[in-house]
Amino acid sequence: MNVLVTGGTGYIGSHTCVELIKAGHKPIALDNLCNSSVESLNRVRTITGEEVPFIKGDVCDEKLLHEIFARHDIDGVIHFAGLKAVGESVEKPLDYYQNNLGSTMSLCRVMSAHNVKKFIFSSSATVYSGDNEMPLRETSKTGNCTNPYGWTKYMCEQILRDIVKADPEWSVVLLRYFNPVGAHQSGLIGEHPNGIPNNLMPYISQTAIGKRDHLNVYGNDYDTHDGTGVRDYIHVVDLARGHVAAVNYMQDHKGESVFNLGTGHGYSVLDMVHAFEEANGVKVPYEIAPRRPGDLGTCYADPTKSREVLGWEAEFNQVDMCRDTWNWQSKNPNGYDE
Ligand code: NAD
Ligand code: UFG
Repeated sequence: MNVLVTGGTGYIGSHTCVELIKAGHKPIALDNLCNSSVESLNRVRTITGEEVPFIKGDVCDEKLLHEIFARHDIDGVIHFAGLKAVGESVEKPLDYYQNNLGSTMSLCRVMSAHNVKKFIFSSSATVYSGDNEMPLRETSKTGNCTNPYGWTKYMCEQILRDIVKADPEWSVVLLRYFNPVGAHQSGLIGEHPNGIPNNLMPYISQTAIGKRDHLNVYGNDYDTHDGTGVRDYIHVVDLARGHVAAVNYMQDHKGESVFNLGTGHGYSVLDMVHAFEEANGVKVPYEIAPRRPGDLGTCYADPTKSREVLGWEAEFNQVDMCRDTWNWQSKNPNGYDE
């Protein structure tokens, strides 16, 4: 399938381009580079031996989208492009609503005009409301998001559901990611957050390499085995393969479907710190800090539906996640910058 991959130079997008190529699909990347570098696609070429056609541009630009759909024979779209920093979304809500909702609506409008109706959306476990029992199933309650970023994912899901209701020819797959971590085993592509990382794994690896003095562990009084927050960390290559499974699924399934992409295992902050130290023979100094506002104690997936319906399940374990994160970090201390 020829797949337009918006956000294709980003962290998850670049790993997905690799797995799409390996599975015989043809990705075309569209990205405005607001949070990534086109160097990631040079690295994808090194890994796969194939060039990913790249268009620099904004997904909110409908004129450009029309040109792309007219010029390329696109069969379906994976929509990764979006802003994703939770804290920033609280400070700049309009930027988040404009970009994340605007891009999704423009894309769907133009797709419809060109009769392309296969769409995979990057959603998030953040759409689940905080009062659910664990593990989270696709049928668990959604809403009550704690920040504008979460609401953009929730609202995009609703918009996409309504599009399918109005036109049953659409195939929409909503993928709810849990906590993506790690990097490609080659160490050529990985995650490079701008500035101080918000997420745990990049903070751990930047602490191990000496860029950060110590890790703040946000709270040790949660109702978990060691008091620190528990999450469902998933290797980014497993996550990328989940998209390939979804591409295959949507070729012969119409309507809307939703899948969790997680492992079903929860690890605490300190579990991750200790696993990282052990897997890589490095030290990660940490201090216990107050809870971070908006955080849940525990969040992990029930991945049964993805296994049964998509035939996908995560293959990499916690040691793989820690080893591959460190391999990328130590080979590329400044990410894709020289
Ligand atoms: P990323 O920032 O590395 O990738 C997103 C890409 O989209 C970037 O390359 C950015 O330049 C691009 N982009 C943003 N707005 C754009 C626009 N209007 N037009 C064109 N390009 C644009 O982030 P990622 O971690 O790869 O996340 C990909 C998707 O997955 C996002 O939608 C994110 O919200 C979602 N997601 C991520 C996580 C996570 O923890 N990484 C968890 C759940 C969901
Ligand atoms: N944590 C720390 N110190 C840090 C960073 C994080 O102790 O410096 C803790 C958090 O308190 C939490 C755990 O590590 O217990 C994971 O935190 P992350 O920020 O890495 O991830 P979250 O689960 O908070 O959120 C992530 C993404 C969201 C996404 C959500 C669900 O950032 O965008 O997963 O998919 F919505």
